Amino acid sequence: MNVNGKAYRSIWLNKNGWSVDIIDQTLLPHEFTIRTLENLQDAAEAISVMRVRGAPLIGATAAYGLALALREDAGDGNLRQAAEVLLVTRPTAVNLRWALQRMQRALEVLPPAERLQKAYAMAADICDEDVDINHAIGQHGLDVVRELWMKKPPGTDSLHILTHCNAGWLATVDWGTALSVIYQAHDEGIPVHVWVDETRPRNQGAALTAWELASHGIAHDVIVDNTGGHLMQHGLVDMCITGTDRTARNGDVCNKIGTYLKALAAHDNNVPFYVALPGPTIDWHMDDGVNGIPIEQRDAHEVTHMAGRNARGLVESVQITPDGVSACNYAFDVTPARLVTGLVTERGVCEASEAGLMSLFPERKGLSI
Ligand code: MRU
Repeated sequence: MNVNGKAYRSIWLNKNGWSVDIIDQTLLPHEFTIRTLENLQDAAEAISVMRVRGAPLIGATAAYGLALALREDAGDGNLRQAAEVLLVTRPTAVNLRWALQRMQRALEVLPPAERLQKAYAMAADICDEDVDINHAIGQHGLDVVRELWMKKPPGTDSLHILTHCNAGWLATVDWGTALSVIYQAHDEGIPVHVWVDETRPRNQGAALTAWELASHGIAHDVIVDNTGGHLMQHGLVDMCITGTDRTARNGDVCNKIGTYLKALAAHDNNVPFYVALPGPTIDWHMDDGVNGIPIEQRDAHEVTHMAGRNARGLVESVQITPDGVSACNYAFDVTPARLVTGLVTERGVCEASEAGLMSLFPERKGLSI
């Protein structure tokens, strides 16, 4: 997508042909800074401190991280150890495991001398595929948005869409998942207006989604996380759409903490609640999302402190709780399939259920959990 008129992806190979460039998302929206990853440790650090984040981008960064590790040693031991280092950087987004397994399976059968070139080629393929997948998600989601828009009474000025966290191009390699739908609806001329949940504690909505939407010229308002229910009760939300970090085989979706509460409010108010996801976000081995998906718990400091720009234009962090307070920081929650109106994938839209997913991914039928 464009930043100040220049097209960017969220990750790309540096022009030196071996290091990897990312946009440091911890500095947005106040600073647009490109950071270069030169080795395995750089890649692992970028994922765990969330310079890169969002399930598909975490997977893509891990793929390049493995390639960077093989520059130093392409032997079996290092391949295995590097994958282990990357796998534990963030536990919830299954795209991380998916990307590492795909790389490892293809690389371990090759002689070490052939691995490096193959690893870079595979990481590039994972990135390119992600871009195509997310564009297709946007196309399928556009059908849903168009239908909702057609049902609005003549004279309606906007279709109001609520989203949580950041499921935009910054969370993927390009386009985004939930925001791909919104971008493509806007580009088709549907007058969308987005309610952007701020998404405490990391504020991905306030910082990243609002920045993305502004760059694309899409009308939006940032709201505090508890506003959605009120808006839905008063007919001010036509549709919710979010991304997901891991979708279980039964259609349960794990996403940023607070997504479940939005889905409950949507259900209570008959607001359609869609979840957009690429195939690699489906965990075919997980048959019960609510009870099985590992939920990342992050540092309490993210809850007790907030970062922002002060009146002098400097970014600083301030403490918002009493000294020494104890805080809990669950980063994700799981929305049960029964609260999800539909899953928007690169292959089309389906019911949030095993049958729904199997109708789009029939090659998974009969494979054991
Ligand atoms: O903790 P984050 O910022 O990595 O969480 C990101 C999300 O929850 C997104 O909604 C999810 O990864 C899907 S984005 C395509």
